Parts: sequence; structure tokens; C-alpha cells
Amino acid sequence: MSDTLQTKAQVINQFLPEKLTTKHSAEAFAPSNIALCKYWGKRATELNLPTNSSLSISLGHLGSHTRISHSENGADVVKLNNRTQDEQSSFCRKVIAFINLFRRDQSIPLVIDTRNNIPTAAGLASSASGFAALVLAINDFFELRLTKVQLSAFARMGSGSASRSIYTGFVRWDMGKQEDGMDSVASQLDCQWDDFCIGLIKVSSAKKPVDSRSGMDRTTATSSLYQNWPAQAAADLITLQKAIENRDFSAMGACAEQNAMSMHATMISAWPPLVYWLPESLAVMQRVWQLRESGIAVYFTMDAGPNLKLLFEESSRKLLETEFPQMDIIQPFKSH
Ligand code: PMV
Repeated sequence: MSDTLQTKAQVINQFLPEKLTTKHSAEAFAPSNIALCKYWGKRATELNLPTNSSLSISLGHLGSHTRISHSENGADVVKLNNRTQDEQSSFCRKVIAFINLFRRDQSIPLVIDTRNNIPTAAGLASSASGFAALVLAINDFFELRLTKVQLSAFARMGSGSASRSIYTGFVRWDMGKQEDGMDSVASQLDCQWDDFCIGLIKVSSAKKPVDSRSGMDRTTATSSLYQNWPAQAAADLITLQKAIENRDFSAMGACAEQNAMSMHATMISAWPPLVYWLPESLAVMQRVWQLRESGIAVYFTMDAGPNLKLLFEESSRKLLETEFPQMDIIQPFKSH
């Protein structure tokens, strides 16, 4: 089977013109997103094809702006938040490798300038918005006229969760079943939920010891709990979609929190164990559980890191701001 698997370059190549045309410059924005039903595990690594479908909420105006223009000095230049990156840095290498999938052997030196407006205090990863903004900027710069389905599939090849950052609001990424992954793409749910709030609580900004890609690989290879994960994620996805349709906040929050805890259970049971929580993470969880006991509808979710994302509605905002003064609040459905 492995010799029939396609590479990223082979898949993308089918959708490219023989010779690229370019604009003077192109700029794009993509929002970051937080999964309520997590993507955790791959059925094929080269194309980032997942073992389960997932569902996220986009972070509105928080994300990545990427600008592509021609380089004057004949060499690629990669900038992040106004700083030129060392060409050996992993950020620079990832960006150039991704652009090369489109540029192929054509000599088109570029300046790729990415700015993240995610508050540094928020402790959020930016690979989802980063690859989505990069794909959108590539599409415009090389005048590729790709569809949203294709953009989502290509963003996924950069980072799985980036497939969801092509859209705003609630977004579902269907795992798909094709070998080339062109059906493993995201789409937007038809829902406007004005009162919906996300609170970002940073407990640490230290670089995580194991990134999500390696964490996923270690979990699938060594955790015996992982075998339950795909079925649970499939069931959670249905529960979440129903809760979103019915605007049933508590059903949605409870399912999202349990989904996150279940993913963490698979990590903790990996070998060597993957414990992303810090004592402060657990302290926030316990405070959330106490608040719920006292009747406040607040839930949390966490990714492969120690920081928490609280889920609540506008009616609880004042109280939660007092409880967690360090929290950054996002209202994904309100314009800024
Ligand atoms: O897209 P990646 O490779 O950074 O993986 C994201 C994994 C989680 O954040 C833990 C879950 C998710 O669905 O975003």
C-alpha cells in the first residue's frame, strides 16, 4: 500500500498551472482556532490525514497576517513579527519547504512576512492560522484561483488544524477517506452565537517540551487507551453539532471538556508519559469545577500544552473576569 501513497508535492501539483504567474504582492489573514472535538492521531503522516473528524471554534480577529512579495536581492527572506528569521530556524525551513511545493523548480525569490496578533500572553499556538494565512497568500500571489476545499486540503498539509483556519465560526474538519486526502477538508457550520465567549488563560509561556506532532505520534504508538479515541471523537462530534444547532451551551461545554480530558488521558497513558499540565493548570481546572458546582456555566478545553481555554456565555463574563483577572476574552461572533 505504501508505494501508492502520494506525496504533498504530487497532490498539489495536479492543481497548479505549468508556469506560475505572480502578482506584485499579496496579503491574507486567517484566524486561529480552538478544537472542541480534538484532532488527535493520523492515519497517514505525509498528508496529515487524521484518524478522526474534529470541530473547532475560530478566534475571530486573532490569527496571522501573511504578506508575500518579490525579493529584491535574489534570496528568500522570511520574517516573523517584523524580525528576519535565520534561514536554519525551524520556522524558516517550514515556510520555505511549504512555498516550494507551489514554486517547484521555478526561481521566484520571495519575501514572506508573517505577523501574529495573538496576544503573546495567551499562550496559543499559531501554526493553524500561520499555514492557513500562508496558503491564502500563496493562492493570491500566484493567481491560482483555488477553491476553499482545495485551500483547506493544502493548509492541512502544513498543519492538520490549519485546515479549519480557512473558515470562521464553528468549523468541522471531516477526516475523509480518499488516499490523496482531497476529501479531508473543513467546512463551516451555519451558526451565529453572539453570546459565545472564549477565555484564554495562560499558565506558562515556556516552549513545550514535546510538540503536538511528536505527542500525537508517541500517543498513537504507545498508549493502549488510544484505541478508544476514534470512536469517542466520532460520538463527541455528533453531540457537539447537535448542541450547537440547539444553542445548548451546557451540553456543548460538557462535551468539549470531556473530549479534551479524554485526549489528555491518552497522552498521560503514553510511554514515556506525556503530561502537559502544570500544577497551575490543575488549579484552574479545580476552580472551574467549583464554579460549576455553584451554578456558573463555565467549561474548559486544553490542547497539547498547559494553558486553558474557558468556554462561557456573556451572562457569566463579569463574574469570570473577577475570578480570572489574567484572562484574555474573545467573542468569535462579534465584530471588532
Ligand atoms: O495541527 P497540529 O499538528 O498542531 O495539531 C493540533 C492538535 C491539537 O491542538 C491538540 C488538537 C486540535 O484539533 O487542534
